[in-house]
Amino acid sequence: MNFIVKRPSDCTDAELTQFHALVASGGEVAIDGLRERIEEAHSLGFCFDGPRLVGVVGLKRPEAEYKRDLFDKAGTTIEPDEFLEIGWAYTEVAYRRQGIASTLFGMLLAEADTPVFATARIHNDTSRRILARCGFSGEGQPYAGRTSQIVLYVRRIDETLLCD
Ligand SMILES: CC(C)(COP(=O)(O)OP(=O)(O)OC[C@H]1O[C@@H](n2cnc3c(N)ncnc32)[C@H](O)[C@@H]1OP(=O)(O)O)[C@@H](O)C(=O)NCCC(=O)NCCS
Repeated sequence: MNFIVKRPSDCTDAELTQFHALVASGGEVAIDGLRERIEEAHSLGFCFDGPRLVGVVGLKRPEAEYKRDLFDKAGTTIEPDEFLEIGWAYTEVAYRRQGIASTLFGMLLAEADTPVFATARIHNDTSRRILARCGFSGEGQPYAGRTSQIVLYVRRIDETLLCD
């Protein structure tokens, strides 16, 4: 496996297109404006098996209003302004449970010099365990998402834990 983390501005158009396609194939992310959000991200994590992209995670720069709304819904008093968001995690089914997402989370978090938050569906135990192993803790209370309850996770800047 070949793991790569890049700024979007350093990616080729083909890499951005592949990243977009894999995130979109997961079916969990709003597709409207996704390409623009990928291009504006802090950094993108890719896992290739030969020429084939099999896993992605992104360190995103969400809009202030989106962050404020999300932190309010979770009922936390944490100030969201400085936070980046980690997400768009998707590993192709045949490649799961080999540490791909955990490795990409660790590589992207090593790039972050700010606090980072993430959201996870309440029943997505794998995502929640990856976040916990990467030093995130649940914040506030679960809130209603489009199809299920969502938990907000935050990782503060002084957090020294890395993904294992
Ligand atoms: C969530 C998702 C991204 C995880 O990707 P992944 O590459 O399988 O993640 P990892 O391999 O790092 O970790 C998954 C599990 O495999 C385990 N694992 C990692 N390496 C392993 C290895 N070499 N041997 C056995 N198990 C291993 C991890 O401990 C973890 O186990 P757990 O669920 O019991 O905690 C993937 O399941 C996915 O794409 N799901 C659909 C989209 C989704 O839910 N995205 C997250 C939205 S928040």
